[in-house]
Amino acid sequence: EVEVDLSTPGHKVSPRLIGAFFEDINFGADGGLCAELVKNGSLEAPKPLLGWSRLGQGVEIELASEAAMSSANPRYLRLEGGDGASDGGVFNEGFRGMGIRGGGDYRLSFQGRSTAGSAARLRVRVVDEQGQELAGETFTVEGSAWRRHEATLRADTTANKARLELRLVAGKLADLDLISLCPADTWKGRPGGLRRDLVQLLADLKPAFFRFPGGCIVEGSELKYRYQWKTTIGPREERRLIVNRWNTEFAHRPAPDYYQSFNLGFFEYFQLAEDLGSEPLPILNCGMACQFNTSELVPLNELAPYIQDALDLIEFANGSAETTWGAKRAAMGHPEPFGMKLLGVGNEQWGPEYFERYEEFARVLQERHPEIELISTSGPFPSGDLFDYAWPLLRKQQVPIVDEHCYACPDWFLREAHRYDNYDRNGPQAFMGEYAAQSVQIVSPRNRNNLRCAIAEAAFLTGIERNSDVVTMSAYAPLMAHEDGWQWRPNLIWFDNLKSYATPSYYVQQLFSKHRGDITAPVKITDPRPAPPVGGRFGLGSHRSCVEFRKLSVDAENQTVHLGDWETDEGVVRQTSLDSATRVLVGEPVSGDATFTCQARKVSGREGFAIFLRYGDGGSRIEW
Ligand code: AHR
Repeated sequence: EVEVDLSTPGHKVSPRLIGAFFEDINFGADGGLCAELVKNGSLEAPKPLLGWSRLGQGVEIELASEAAMSSANPRYLRLEGGDGASDGGVFNEGFRGMGIRGGGDYRLSFQGRSTAGSAARLRVRVVDEQGQELAGETFTVEGSAWRRHEATLRADTTANKARLELRLVAGKLADLDLISLCPADTWKGRPGGLRRDLVQLLADLKPAFFRFPGGCIVEGSELKYRYQWKTTIGPREERRLIVNRWNTEFAHRPAPDYYQSFNLGFFEYFQLAEDLGSEPLPILNCGMACQFNTSELVPLNELAPYIQDALDLIEFANGSAETTWGAKRAAMGHPEPFGMKLLGVGNEQWGPEYFERYEEFARVLQERHPEIELISTSGPFPSGDLFDYAWPLLRKQQVPIVDEHCYACPDWFLREAHRYDNYDRNGPQAFMGEYAAQSVQIVSPRNRNNLRCAIAEAAFLTGIERNSDVVTMSAYAPLMAHEDGWQWRPNLIWFDNLKSYATPSYYVQQLFSKHRGDITAPVKITDPRPAPPVGGRFGLGSHRSCVEFRKLSVDAENQTVHLGDWETDEGVVRQTSLDSATRVLVGEPVSGDATFTCQARKVSGREGFAIFLRYGDGGSRIEW
């Protein structure tokens, strides 16, 4: 029986309730949202010929750097031929091939010169997988000064995995740099802009806020690879390319060719948020590298440049065009401020080292910019010791908004529909900043965006909406993934080089976002059915597998948990009992080192027990 009391309306539903989280993972940026088709067109990847291969005969390929275009872009490609005609040159493979649409226009451009004293002829073609020409143009490259060459190519037919060829067909020498091929049909028609179909899917979600640039890439696997917003703005050729955090030994499924060109940088992120009608929500590095990786820390007395980056970002986003950083925004074509109100300090950090760094940021930022609402993190675990440690500190630090991250199995989300019912209304607001139901473990190709996951997320969102006086913001993560290049699943939107599609989870997000209520009404549910037996599926930690306990029982006197039959995602069934000293090795490892430990203890002030399960560095607490 469901009773709705309309005579005493509850709180207003938070207008920021459903947002979007974007991170350059799963080739979400280069090879994804960015429409640019050439990989490493600037030749500045640490492996300089990344994406490029030799083609044909009679031409020497060299990477040169004398009299380069600029010190920010020091390398270029030199094609050197003999005296006669040749067909030699290079081709670019694109990001897992290039998606080319029949009838579509493609803007080709490159910087070129010929220092040989004579002109060179360059044949540029887009070809399909069989080498069939889809479009082409011949250029004359001459003179010792760099000059931009461009053409619009119209493709005859469609190809999902095309490539771009550049052949020196006559002449002695051609130097080439900043080679670009981009569909003319981008989001809002911006040259070199974003893929229209992907932004449209994002726009159709109507996200209240847009969080960027992540995710772990904010932190970097090492501090030198952290996201530094200042290197991502201004002329594209001056943006410094770095390795992506998802291209390291630490990534679940590393992609060795994964770099960040910053074609999508902080200016474009702000602009995209504006296009979507979403509040921009940037997250900045707080002086810590990713704790799942190196845990490298900036000493507290050396944090000043990091805090200065935050101050400068506020000026870049909100300052007038007369200020130093506001002028840089204006020079990029946006004299009006972006109106940023939210700023995250650190991504998914935990431990005392995080809280002392947050405090340094908060002290300066709250004094200089009280208008900015700061977001702090509670770490990666939906519950457990770290979580219990974080929240009292977050309250003490009077953090305005706390970012929680929860990846777990569908039953966790069903159960946690009541998560926020008892959150302290006088403490910080909560932000469920990353979450997704996992059908199986994250790295597994079998982890699907299935209906069960979507329904569990929907149930969870009813709890978020009902409690949106305290949990004011939420975002599913990750947002996008390339079919051929993912490191993480599930994801809200999938794409290949030409197509994109939304998942059941996407439609749940859209439903709650587009049909957000104005106020809540108190609801009383009377369920005559007996309470469900203790047991079920529980997620182990934020990034871990699910384990199913079929007959869970507790021996209170001996503080022992009898798990009965239990099953991992990989289908291993065990009969066992655990006490706080027991360690169980799963017969078939779920992945890597699959050692579970289990601890049972009385929950203070409550009737029931908690068992705390650890698997690797993940953990989860189950209470009843
Ligand atoms: O969303 C994928 C990753 O999950 C994010 O980069 C990180 O914040 C979390 O661990």
